[in-house]
Amino acid sequence: MDERLEALFKPKSIAVVGASRKPGKIGFEILRNIIEYGFKGKVYPVNPKATQILGLKAYPSLEAIPEDVDMVVVSVPAKFVPDIIDQAGKKHAKVAVVIASGFKEIGRADLEEEVVRRARKWGIRVLGPNIFGMIYTPARLNASFGPKDVIPGSVAFITQSGALGIALMGMTIVERIGVSAIISIGNKADIDDADLLEYLAEDPHTKVILIYLEGVTDGRKFLRVAQRVSLKKPIIVIKAGRTEAGAKAVASHTGSLAGNVVIYSTLFKQTGILQARTVEEAFDWARAFSYLPEYKGGQLVLVTNGGGAGVISTDTLAENGVKLEAPPKSLVDTLKPKLPAFASLGNPIDVTGMISNEGFVDSVLEALKNPEVGAVMGIYCQTAVTDPMVIASKLVREIKAMGGLPKPLVLTLIGGEECYWAVTKLNTAKIPTYPMPERAATTVAAIINYSRMREEVRERLKELGDVSD
Ligand code: COA
Repeated sequence: MDERLEALFKPKSIAVVGASRKPGKIGFEILRNIIEYGFKGKVYPVNPKATQILGLKAYPSLEAIPEDVDMVVVSVPAKFVPDIIDQAGKKHAKVAVVIASGFKEIGRADLEEEVVRRARKWGIRVLGPNIFGMIYTPARLNASFGPKDVIPGSVAFITQSGALGIALMGMTIVERIGVSAIISIGNKADIDDADLLEYLAEDPHTKVILIYLEGVTDGRKFLRVAQRVSLKKPIIVIKAGRTEAGAKAVASHTGSLAGNVVIYSTLFKQTGILQARTVEEAFDWARAFSYLPEYKGGQLVLVTNGGGAGVISTDTLAENGVKLEAPPKSLVDTLKPKLPAFASLGNPIDVTGMISNEGFVDSVLEALKNPEVGAVMGIYCQTAVTDPMVIASKLVREIKAMGGLPKPLVLTLIGGEECYWAVTKLNTAKIPTYPMPERAATTVAAIINYSRMREEVRERLKELGDVSD
């Protein structure tokens, strides 16, 4: 483990160079987030014009700080950054988080190279430049100018886009998706996706890694590392620049090459990476992976009270490479006496629109408990004879009584406002639930496809003598 990366996630002390005295300026907001999110280490604001900022003693320069510092957050204009790196070196800093824009993305590759050259001389790792900072919730570290109240959890999010990343940070809060880390990597002058993947693979607080990717500089390194990491935890990628027009936009955004879309998709598959088509899809999947136990094989069973929603889900699963087989006989035998005579006991199991709250919940739970079933998708359409909130509460209670989910369960609750609140209740209880059947079905497909891809990667590496059983 590179101890300098350890200092990125768990610094003992942080200096903020360019900590502004003025609320609303980036340097001020970063310092405020570090303090208010509850970082426990030492924090040194650096600003030649201030003596005190946000109640902390301010220092005119890094050199004026009486001790060494682990992390230096650099929030001064680009042209000053190389000299700040030299000063950070004298303070034995291990990592510099360079917020400033104005480097490769505007044709100043020379200035970016100078920053890296000086950082290497001092043995400092550089995150950025052109970033909004980073967050690591287990260390109560929010060194970013994004939202303050990020919810701790187990999704790590690496983003090459700053503003989009900040916006999505906000979305995770509204959607109640807990994160372990959010890392803005911008121009990736030094620390890149592969470095972060390696670190996060070993991080016990991270269950799933989500990457917004525009391009990679060292493709071989990325794929080699991703292949190994995907054996341990799922990696979900949103690859931007899929079209010619998008690729041009990427070049002027972070100065990356977007590359060929088909090549990327093929390589992702071979590497065990899940490629999401949309941001919504990526977060839908991340939520499920962070809440659920591992899928260990076995049949997928759909339980629905609405035939149409069952068909839509079946279509979506098939489009994503997941075929349904007839449900286990033992499950059919258990459910048959409890269901209306006209219930359909194929897969999907259609428990019919006349099913009660208890009947729907019971059918989902029976499927979950069946030893031949590996994963369950529950599809609920709001009817006048049921109440989505009662169903949600009962599911939460029963699953808690079972000691948590024994295998993956993904739900969709389709209907009006009551469904919205029931979806929120279930997600808060860490049972992944979506308001649309397609969203739930692509999530189930991602869970099954990840398991398949991982097996393929494992087999391939074994053939190459590269992995033990
Ligand atoms: N050391 C320490 N502090 C210094 C300094 C130095 N060498 N030089 C200036 N400062 C102080 C300034 O006095 C100022 O403090 P004040 O507001 O109390 O007067 C503060 O540091 C910031 O410097 P300033 O020159 O006002 O810069 P700024 O805040 O306007 O802009 C950046 C700095 C880094 C935010 C800006 O250059 C930038 O790159 N913005 C884009 C960032 C971005 O979008 N990144 C990508 C995210 S997605």
